[in-house]
Amino acid sequence: MKLFVDTGNVREVETLASIGILDGVTTNPSLLAKEGGDFRHILKQICLTVQGPVSAEVVATESASMVREGRDLATIDEHIVVKVPFGKDGVKACRALTRDGIRVNVTLVFSATQALLAAKAGAYFVSPFVGRLDDVATDGMELIEQIVEIYDNYKFSTEVLVASVRHPIHVVQAARLGADICTCPAAVIEAMFKHPLTDIGLARFLKDWEKAQGIKV
Ligand code: G3P
Repeated sequence: MKLFVDTGNVREVETLASIGILDGVTTNPSLLAKEGGDFRHILKQICLTVQGPVSAEVVATESASMVREGRDLATIDEHIVVKVPFGKDGVKACRALTRDGIRVNVTLVFSATQALLAAKAGAYFVSPFVGRLDDVATDGMELIEQIVEIYDNYKFSTEVLVASVRHPIHVVQAARLGADICTCPAAVIEAMFKHPLTDIGLARFLKDWEKAQGIKV
C-alpha cells in the first residue's frame, strides 16, 4: 500500500520524504489556506520534494471552469493530479481532463455508487473519506471494502485512496482491505512509528551494553 501525507506544509513533506517512506501527497483548499502564501509555489515545492503524485484541488464548481482550472493546475508540475469534488460537474470534468491525459482524483466520495461513477469517468484516484463517515456513525472502512470489491470485480484501474484518516488503526484496516493508498496527516504517520516496547527494548539493549563494556554509549 502506498503512503501519502495529507498536508499543505512543505516542511512536513520534506521530513517524511527524507525518511524514504513517502509515495505522494494530497492537499485540499483547507490545508493550503492554512499555510498562506502562494499556493502554486507551495505545490511546486511539494512536487519537487516528493517526486510522486501530488493532488491539487480545483475550487470551481461548474464543470467547464473545473476543466479550465484543472488544466492550469496541471501546468505547475508533471506530478500534479487534479482533484475534483464528486458530483455531476466533477464527474464530467473528470472525464474531460482524463481525455486530455491529465490524472484526476475524485474526492468527497461517501458511497459505493459515487465510487463506481468516478471509476466509469476514468478517475486515476478515488478518495473516500473514512473519518467523516465514522463521525456520522457510519463505518467508513465498510465503504472501502465495498469499493475494493467492486473495482476488483470489473478490473477498474482507478486506485482507492483512503482519505480522512484519523488514526493508525484506519491505516491497518486500509492495508488489510487491499486499498491502494492511504493518505494520512503527518501526526498519524508519526504515530505509526511508535511502540513503547520498542523504546523500552532499545533502552535495555543500550544499558546492558554499557554495563558490559564499562563505557557510555
Ligand atoms: O484531504 C481530505 C481529507 O483527508 C480530509 O480529512 O480529517 O478533514 O476529514 P478530514
